[in-house]
Amino acid sequence: MSEAQETKGPDLKAGIGAAELPEGGQVAGQVDGEAVLLVRSGGKDFAIGATCTHYGGPLAEGLVVGDTVRCPWHHACFSLRTGEALRAPALNPVACYRVERVGDRVFVREKLPAPTPPPAAATGPSSVVIVGAGAAGNAAAERLRELGYGGPITLLGRDRSVPYDRPNLSKDYLAGNAPEEWIPLRPKEFYEEKRIELRLGTRVTAIDPQGRTITLEDGTSLPYGALLLATGTSPVRLDLPGADRPHVHYLRTLADSRAIIAAVKDAKQAVVLGASFIGMEVAASLRARGIAVTVAAPDERPLGKVLGPDLGDFIRALHEEHGVTFRLGTKAVEIGEHEVRLESGETLPADLVVAGIGVRPNLDLARAAGLRVDDGVIVDEYLETSVPGIFAAGDIARWPDAYLGEPIRVEHWELAERHGQTAAANLLGRRQRFADVPFFWSQHYDVQISYVGPGKGWEEARLSGSLAKRDATVTYRKKGKIVAVATVFRDRQSLEAELAMERGDVERLEEVVRG
Ligand SMILES: Cc1cc2nc3c(=O)[nH]c(=O)nc-3n(C[C@H](O)[C@H](O)[C@H](O)COP(=O)(O)OP(=O)(O)OC[C@H]3O[C@@H](n4cnc5c(N)ncnc54)[C@H](O)[C@@H]3O)c2cc1C
Ligand code: FES
Repeated sequence: MSEAQETKGPDLKAGIGAAELPEGGQVAGQVDGEAVLLVRSGGKDFAIGATCTHYGGPLAEGLVVGDTVRCPWHHACFSLRTGEALRAPALNPVACYRVERVGDRVFVREKLPAPTPPPAAATGPSSVVIVGAGAAGNAAAERLRELGYGGPITLLGRDRSVPYDRPNLSKDYLAGNAPEEWIPLRPKEFYEEKRIELRLGTRVTAIDPQGRTITLEDGTSLPYGALLLATGTSPVRLDLPGADRPHVHYLRTLADSRAIIAAVKDAKQAVVLGASFIGMEVAASLRARGIAVTVAAPDERPLGKVLGPDLGDFIRALHEEHGVTFRLGTKAVEIGEHEVRLESGETLPADLVVAGIGVRPNLDLARAAGLRVDDGVIVDEYLETSVPGIFAAGDIARWPDAYLGEPIRVEHWELAERHGQTAAANLLGRRQRFADVPFFWSQHYDVQISYVGPGKGWEEARLSGSLAKRDATVTYRKKGKIVAVATVFRDRQSLEAELAMERGDVERLEEVVRG
């Protein structure tokens, strides 16, 4: 669903003066009508397509790190040498061009052929079975093939839909701004072509680590050489009278999002229960569809526990500007046919209710198989569980975070995909440490909040810049140490903060947040 960047800047085919491209320099230009980024790094010139293959972010505004460039929007990382998407959330490469220096000019020449994947190797486990065809599972299956794994891969998911872009379900798709074809991560044929056996609508009910088999819902069993668990989370259900009424919805799957869209057609007044990311994004999307929305939640402010008071108040004001009303400090106690009754005694009219009151990791399989579990499947830095040969990734994995130096579990799209990519390497025995810094974004109307860092247990959230001017940073600290940085329209700073955390460079990180 990437859109071509507007082409501006010099025609790089006609060449530019070498002085315009010093070491560490970047020039955004065009070649045959396509946006191209020309970079000089490590004494070498590189030219690649400047439009990120995730959602079309402008790579020319990204951060060059060695022979890679990171996208400013959601931090995907591309190789400048080959154009390959090295790190999610982009899954497709960008084009790569030949660059030539002639005298004191630099010319971008023809597009280079896409790099050929390594030949399929007969090494590695006898087969790989992946339980969960979401962000992590899909990314792992793809990366196994990119790394040249030639054995059988089975990707099992209880969902009936081909792996899809879950974050979009509460955003553009729900708002009616994203066509259906944006939602699948890949067409079905992709999996056939890559010889990834995609078994949808298939629930795994048990794992036998000794016998190296899994059992499916229909009672059949499937052997595995190596196993990846990526079962994600499930929404917490309401426990109150009327919670089972047909107009009460949750949002985790594509089918859930479609059901809300169908319900919107006859609805005039929605109540969203929960002022979490999902709740607030749903509120924005329902407003975009023109129905009245009230958000009811026990919290003092939306997203306050994660983002702190300044961003929480900003988000509340932003939603109020768009017509959302709030009932905070209270919660639903009963859902009637046409109303929601609150603990405060108030009754809100509602012909549609969407509950976003949290999620729980799907740990039953891991627990029953005897894997170590503690608010997540415990994995080491290679994402391997307590049972050798079984790996876990994504929302369920609790891994030792390299920056914090303690185990964490997070529920972010990009992180789940990156877990999947690293787990793939380790399923093949490559012993690759997972050291990426968690990143997530959240979209509210035309404002994106980018959040980088583990964030766990922050004690202080300090605002710099101006949220009113939509140019701001919030720095989160625990015992004085920066544990996360949230930015609004300061993408470059978010990228710099990520890099400093990745390198464990606390001094640089302090410099970055000072701006
Ligand atoms: C509406 C919505 C919006 C979001 N927006 C954002 C965002 O803007 N930014 C962000 O960073 N994150 C966002 N997230 C969170 C993000 O989608 C998750 O962190 C990510 O999907 C986790 O990936 P995963 O692979 O661990 O799990 P999932 O993507 O949930 O995949 C798990 C899969 O496992 C399957 N499964 C579970 N149990 C079994 C079983 N026993 N047998 C077979 N299959 C099984 C499930 O059906 C599911 O398909 C959003 C989530 C939702 C629901
Ligand atoms: S647009 Fe580049 S990572 Fe999303």
